[in-house]
This record gives sequence, structure tokens and C-alpha cells, in this order.
Amino acid sequence: MSVSSPLFVVLAAGKGVRMKSAVPKVLHKVAGRSMLAHVLGTAKSIDGGTLAIVVGSDMEAVASEARAVAPGVQVFVQNAQRGTADAVLAARPALEAHSGDVVVLYADTPLIRRETLERLRKALDEGANIAVLGFRPEDPTGYGRLLTDTKGTLLAIREDKDASEDERKIGLCNSGVIAFRVPNITGLLSRISNANAKAEFYLTDAVELARADGLVAAVIECDAEEVLGVNARDQLAAAEAVWQARARLALMRDGVTMIAPETVWLSFDTSIARDVVIEPNVFFGLGVSVEEGAKILAFCHLEGAVIGKGARIGPFARFRPGSRLGPEVHIGNFVEVKNTTLGPGAKANHLSYLGDGSIGAKANIGAGTIFCNYDGYNKQKTEIGEGAFVGSNSSLVAPVTIGAGAYIGSGSVITKNVSPGALALERGTQEERPGWAEKFRILMTRRKAAQKP
Ligand code: UD1
Ligand code: CA
Repeated sequence: MSVSSPLFVVLAAGKGVRMKSAVPKVLHKVAGRSMLAHVLGTAKSIDGGTLAIVVGSDMEAVASEARAVAPGVQVFVQNAQRGTADAVLAARPALEAHSGDVVVLYADTPLIRRETLERLRKALDEGANIAVLGFRPEDPTGYGRLLTDTKGTLLAIREDKDASEDERKIGLCNSGVIAFRVPNITGLLSRISNANAKAEFYLTDAVELARADGLVAAVIECDAEEVLGVNARDQLAAAEAVWQARARLALMRDGVTMIAPETVWLSFDTSIARDVVIEPNVFFGLGVSVEEGAKILAFCHLEGAVIGKGARIGPFARFRPGSRLGPEVHIGNFVEVKNTTLGPGAKANHLSYLGDGSIGAKANIGAGTIFCNYDGYNKQKTEIGEGAFVGSNSSLVAPVTIGAGAYIGSGSVITKNVSPGALALERGTQEERPGWAEKFRILMTRRKAAQKP
């Protein structure tokens, strides 16, 4: 733990033109959560941290996302994009009110890890005044280069456009994440000029200025994938892939089996207990938790669902928000569950829609059962008691209650409540005409013969 609690300044004023989107770049999602929320969430996980974000004008949506994720966040507006130093200075009131470390993060770099931020802060504890997070990309073109001496001490950061040919050959680059423990950060940043190729106020110039003051700068390196910056949709997909790979690995390390992990898609809040087995091609949307020992067969799609201990779902099952499966529940192929609770051991093994219902323990829902929950205006509830048996292809027209242990005859359209233990049957009476088929065939054969020329 560092002694000084940090102020995180998250830069998010960029318009993100290359995303070609009506949505501000940092609100695009990785694992179902905005990039901004990933970064704020990571910063927030560090004890004692204070959060500030810098947005462009006209970015109320970005500000409100920030407040939703981190209610205490201070929001500052940078009206014109005059460079990263100018962006940090937009948070001047927060910088002036703060006496500890300052860490600059980019909201379009969503994969940064808490451990890495801790390493940067440790560098400050060990004597650096500025600690820059460096990385070695496959192709350094476009990035600021970290100029070091033979001992690896950081001397300066040179932006690509301002670099000499020799400097461009340097593979060690600036990720953009920089931590400061300097006596007067606003003073330091105010001295930065915009006399450079882009006529911008470069935050990176702080290194040379600080060193001229006798302060110490250091580099901490991390994996290139951790500081992957998202400017366009292909990079968004690349960030998603890195996040997914990390999350799958973490789950497997925690005791989850995935037969083909690269085909399983998780959300940032997916929770899966140990000894759960996941077959290929499963999608976890927001708000899913799976309890111990459950089995998820191939091609399931889940959102807002709890899958109980030892339950077995799929293949090809869909769970929409409000699906609550108790222990040992079985849901089979082509079953859709929405806002419905299933008690322990309940089963719906084939081709059903279970919406706005509650199903008691050990009840059995036959193939083709539909909960008719919606009349075009209102949603109504279907309640099925413990141990009830709903015959195949029944329509249960809500609101309706089926008593415990009752039977519903196959093909019934049930519109009235059914008492516990009763049989309810709603269908035409079957009639039978002995020998009819044979007579029919003879008649038809004669007709065909008569039609021939
Ligand atoms: C910056 C770094 C570069 C580093 C690279 C890593 C500087 C001068 N350069 O370059 O050394 O290798 O990031 O990706 O810092 N922003 C604002 N307001 C501004 C300008 C930028 O909020 O006026 C925000 C952007 O939204 C973005 C971040 O700051 O999130 C970086 O800005 P950008 O212009 O993309 O910097 P680069 O040229 O990529
Ligand atoms: Ca950039």
C-alpha cells in the first residue's frame, strides 16, 4: 500500500471520430460494460482513491455514465482539444485540492489492471516523482517513445511526429498512463508549451521539465495487450477478445470447466461457481450467476438469470431477465424462460415458453407448453404448484393457477384455475368410425380411375 492516496484523472474528451458512431467512444462496451466504466471501476478498486474525469463539451452522456459507476466522481469539461496536458489541467480544481499522487488514465484504454497501477505507485514510493507505464508494441509507429539512458532511467518522452529517425527506432513506448508525485503538478503542467509538430500541449513533456528541476522519472513496463487503446471498431473487438480470454482463464483457474473456452462469451459481472461445466457456444449476457455443479449444454443464451446448484440447461435454451432456477432444475432444448421461478427439481425439457410464472418443486412441464402471459396490454402470472404435471402442447392462459399435484391433459387450453390434485382437460371429444379408412381408400381409387381419359 502506498502512503499517499491517489487522485485519478481519467481523460475522455476525445470525440472518437474513427469509431464512426453517434455514441461517444468511451461509452462503447467491452464485456457489456462501457470502456469508461472499466477504467473507473479499476481506479475505484484502489483504496482511498479520488476520481476525476475530463470530458468534451456536449458529453452529458459520458458524465452521467461516470456518475453512475462512481457516484463521487468529479466531472470537468475541456472545451477544445488542445492536448493531453491541457486536458489534465481542465481538472485543475481537483488537482489543487489534492495533495497526494496523481495518476492519469485514458478512458479508451479499458484493460488496465489494478495490479499494474499498484506497481506504478510503488515506483513513486521507491523514489520516482514521475512513473510512466511503458510497453513494447509490435509496431511502435504513432506512439510516444520513451528515451532512456544506459541505466534505463527515463530522460524524456518524444512524440512520434516530433521524433528523429533514431528515436523512432526505439521500441519502448508510452502507454499514456502516468503517475505523478511532484510538489506542484499544476505549476509543472502550466509550463508545458505547444511548440511541437501538432501544436498541442503534450502531457509527455512533463518528464523533461521535471528532470530539469532535479526530479526523478522512471518507467514501469507492462504487456502491450493491457494498454491496448481503442480508436476504431476493430480495436474494440481486439480489446473484447483480450478481456474475454482473461475472464475465461480466471474462471477455469477457479474450477469451472469449459470444453471450448474460446466459444464462451462472458459479461463483466458473470458469476460462475466451481464444478460448473460449460459446453461450446454459450453466451452470458448481463446479470447471470451459475451455482455449483450446474451443467450448461451447448448453444445457450442467458441474461439476468440465476441457475441453481446442479441444474442442467440446454442445449439451445434461452434465459431472459428474471429467470430463477432452483437446484437440480432441468431446462431442455428450445425452451425460453423469462421472469419465472422454478422450484427444486422442476423440469421443462422441450419446446416451451415460460414467461411471468412460478413453477413449484418437481413440477413437470410437457413439450410445447406455452404460458400465454400477454394480451397485448398487460402481462399476467401463471402459477404452477409443486409436483403438478402439465401435459404436452398445453396453453395456460394467464392469470391462472394450477394446484399442487394437478394434471393438465395434453393439448388443453387452460383459462380457469385448477384445484390441487385434479385433472383438467380442455379439448374436443375424440370420436372413432370403425372401418372408415378402408372405405375411403376404395372410394378415392374409383374416382381417380373414372377421371382417366
Ligand atoms: C498519447 C501520448 C503518447 C502515447 C499515446 C498512447 C501525449 C502527448 N501523447 O498520444 O505518448 O504513446 O497517447 O496511446 O500525451 N485527450 C483529451 N483532450 C485532449 C487530447 C487528448 O481528453 O485535448 C484524451 C483523448 O481522448 C485520449 C487521450 O487523451 O483518450 C490521448 O489522446 P490522443 O490525442 O489520442 O493522444 P495520442 O496522440 O494517441
Ligand atoms: Ca490515441
